[in-house]
Amino acid sequence: MRLLTSLAVAASLLCAPAFSALAAPPDAAPPDGAQASPASVAERDAFIDRLIARMTLEEKIGQLRLISIGSDMPQPQLRKELEAGRVGGTFNSVTPAENRPLQEAAVKSRLGIPIFFAYDIVHGHRTIFPISLGVASTWDMGAVERVARVSALEATADGIDMTFAPMVDISRDPRWGRTSEGFGEDPFLVSQSARAMVRGFQGASPANRDSLMAVVKHFALYGAVEGGRDYNTVDMSPMRMFQDYLPPYKAAIDAGAGGVMIALNSINGEPATSNKWLLRDLLRKQWGFKGLTVSDHGAIDELLRHGVAKDGREAAKLAIEAGADMSMHDSLYLQQLPGLVKSGAVPVGVVDEAVREVLGAKYDLGLFADPYRRIGRAADDPADVEADSRLHREDARDVARRSLVLLENRNQTLPLKKGGTIAVVGPLADAPIDIMGSWSAAGKGKHSVTLLQGMRDALGDRGRVLHAHGANLTDDPRVVEYLNFLNWDMKELVQDPRPLGDMIAEAVAAARAADVVVVAVGESRGMSHEASSRTTLSLPGSQQTLLKALKSTGKPMVVVLMNGRPLTLNWEKENADAMLETWYAGTEGGHAIADVLFGDYNPSGRLPISFPRSIGQIPTYYNQLRIGRPFTPGKPANYTSQYFEEASGPLYPFGYGLSYTQYAVSDVRLSRDTMRAGERIEASVTVKNTGARDGEVVLQLYLQDVAASVVRPVKELKDFRKIPLKAGESRVVSFPIDEDKLKFYNAKLDYVAEPGEFNVQIGLDAENVKQKTFVLR
Ligand code: BGC
Repeated sequence: MRLLTSLAVAASLLCAPAFSALAAPPDAAPPDGAQASPASVAERDAFIDRLIARMTLEEKIGQLRLISIGSDMPQPQLRKELEAGRVGGTFNSVTPAENRPLQEAAVKSRLGIPIFFAYDIVHGHRTIFPISLGVASTWDMGAVERVARVSALEATADGIDMTFAPMVDISRDPRWGRTSEGFGEDPFLVSQSARAMVRGFQGASPANRDSLMAVVKHFALYGAVEGGRDYNTVDMSPMRMFQDYLPPYKAAIDAGAGGVMIALNSINGEPATSNKWLLRDLLRKQWGFKGLTVSDHGAIDELLRHGVAKDGREAAKLAIEAGADMSMHDSLYLQQLPGLVKSGAVPVGVVDEAVREVLGAKYDLGLFADPYRRIGRAADDPADVEADSRLHREDARDVARRSLVLLENRNQTLPLKKGGTIAVVGPLADAPIDIMGSWSAAGKGKHSVTLLQGMRDALGDRGRVLHAHGANLTDDPRVVEYLNFLNWDMKELVQDPRPLGDMIAEAVAAARAADVVVVAVGESRGMSHEASSRTTLSLPGSQQTLLKALKSTGKPMVVVLMNGRPLTLNWEKENADAMLETWYAGTEGGHAIADVLFGDYNPSGRLPISFPRSIGQIPTYYNQLRIGRPFTPGKPANYTSQYFEEASGPLYPFGYGLSYTQYAVSDVRLSRDTMRAGERIEASVTVKNTGARDGEVVLQLYLQDVAASVVRPVKELKDFRKIPLKAGESRVVSFPIDEDKLKFYNAKLDYVAEPGEFNVQIGLDAENVKQKTFVLR
């Protein structure tokens, strides 16, 4: 490896004589695991200063351009731009063979500055893991980190340096299609996931050959778009922002994320892309962020449509002055910055600051020491371009089965016996593309194990699997047209041309001939995607008709859900004999689901987001602020806060999930019932596996501030533990509570803990808890 590195350095220096004329390019990579020392930071800064001092204005502006491979310009033009030093980085190429000639062109430029290669590696690169909402359902931060680590191993082996991930937007409105990309509704769970992802992507140092630089997105508050309609505006009180929506970005940054992607939305009247408060005051000054900011795709041009810039010149000026270092899918920085600087409208120092961050990211990635650090030599390029033999299937299967959430299980319908006849039906039963979910990077449908395949593999010759499609995902021509247009590169919905009645008749015949029917229903992956907001959260009509027909056969019906957001499932909850939420479970999804359905794995996933009863009930997030007239179960409902046509509260609460065993949680014990400033107390319970199977339980700690200077939530998740428990085993689980856990942003946005009473709740989901009270003096 060492030899390879020095060969590549030598090669890069030969290609770029001007670059070698700089003070010797440092080997930017500290040894694995080493922290940057003050001396190495000074050396880095001096290197960048020297480089900037040699750059022309055109070269500087070139560094600020982030070019989309395949959509921004044809390859020959891109190479010319690279040789002219007019590109800082690219994204969307996925093999070393694609990236090598581009890097060669970049190092041929006058100063030989390498580019970086980025890509959206959100939940796997070649091996696709469950979507982030599924990964969060594991409540297992080791599993979350593993997703990012494996992604980094695979992506760096493909010559990629940087990922536009993790996506940590809190989402409390499931109409938003990008709910699928994030880790759910809760600030604590999403922040923990954000940290774990950054650790996994970046490893000990982003300079390592097998590390990806993490670019956390979308800063900020993108998940709060009004009405869940994508790209819509966000208007939010500062208290809510600081308390609930900003913590996950901060967590990723504190964990060392090298970059931040700026959100497309506006915040309280100012687009994030031109928002000086957001990008300079909060991000840089208050949080001390020292890395790279990149705009989202075309967001600088969109400042015109937001109506805050009258033309491209003004848009480029606003964005660079606000602190948008790199322009993704750029045209305006290239066209407008030269004139803006020459006329004095934008001081060159502002451009230099942005260039410094781009060069800093490349330095931290080790690209000055070796532009081919992750691309390697052509002779070593993997023979299997599509990674057929390089997948991490075991990791994918293990994480996927941990992510599955058992919602219902009447009369012990599950686990299924490995024998007899099983009908596997439904539009998602054999859907290799959909099971990968949206943003599935370089994943290939041919690598996916579908539910049908997983069931066949698990059953082997011990039983029979019957298969029928049953229904198309939707029969709504408008939806079909939209989804196929959205995914212009890959037809999403291959419609079965048969009439619905014929398909249902076939599925019903299969069910009648079987002992049990497993039916896979939900959304196509395009339905839970960027730009895919919905006005209903129910299953499309064709699928509802299929379920009702199957139910009428009287055969036990196991509903396997594949979807990227909470759905409204009232009929399904009442009528399914068992129901398993599988999200989009990834490359090994079919095996993982079969593991759970047959009981080879006892389900341990828990919901990271509440499921509403109806769309009208949104928002249903559990940690709502307290109100003066709360609805209280068991008390008269009139003149309380509720919707009178249906029951109050979510269909399935945050943190919910069943298992094939049962857990009993004791009353809460506190080490003391008063706490003084600076002290710590312990809250503990005894949890017992009272059933007959080994399993893993997720104990959740919630706190409620009984009376404070401002209105506080009904409860907030503050800690959790996922622990294995053998059948019959009990364990004491303790949670330390210190002042930090009691802190919140008050009306002045000070982060404080106020003396008074606190309710400690420990339990198995946000509703199923035991409570005890202590006082902070
Ligand atoms: C998305 C980003 C993504 C970017 C590059 C945009 O449309 O909003 O999340 O990183 O495209 O693919």
